[in-house]
Amino acid sequence: MKGMVILISGRGSNMQALVEAGLPVAAVISNRADAAGLAYAVGRGIATAVVAHRDYATREAFDAALAQAIDGFRPDLVALAGFMRILTDSFVLRYQGRMLNIHHSLLPAFSGLDTHARALAAGVKLHGCTVHFVTAELDHGPIVIQAAVPVLPDDDEAQLAARVLAQEHRIYPRAARWFLEGNLVVENGLVRVKGDHPQQLYAP
Ligand code: GAR
Repeated sequence: MKGMVILISGRGSNMQALVEAGLPVAAVISNRADAAGLAYAVGRGIATAVVAHRDYATREAFDAALAQAIDGFRPDLVALAGFMRILTDSFVLRYQGRMLNIHHSLLPAFSGLDTHARALAAGVKLHGCTVHFVTAELDHGPIVIQAAVPVLPDDDEAQLAARVLAQEHRIYPRAARWFLEGNLVVENGLVRVKGDHPQQLYAP
């Protein structure tokens, strides 16, 4: 199987799930030196790098430095895992068709931030998470897999977030493995998995 570079900004629990699934992780790169997830990667003997966005005057300059760091590891897949940066169009184009993101909502609902609070405020009865290919539009792009969880009457934001996060850790490794094994087919913006693996999970 070919390798992947994972981009993180913080805790890195999705990165950890990808590593623990036994996927070939060439490196973990963060835009923040204090990202908690970096210590986990170091502990696992995985190469790490920090490209600090604060060191660059423009988004373009930061993205160019980030691309240089990524390309040094020659990955087949770039996996965004809680990477909290808006990406320039040219960066997205460079990795088009080989960059995945995980988002904590059932896209296209609740793109952007504060998804759990917004789901509670909207009164939705199902919430969840999505792995999708990255395109120029934030939190859009062809959907690879989604997991749905119930929103329970007494949920607060933390309870709902935890229920969703557990499913993020299930679907991201699955999606990354499909990609790395060459099993994802994108046609007209829709993603199919060779072998008819289910692209949806329902969690209690
Ligand atoms: C995850 O819930 C992920 O879905 C979300 O950030 C969290 C990162 O957690 N991603 C985004 O908001 C991207 N738009 P983690 O660092 O523990 O993986």
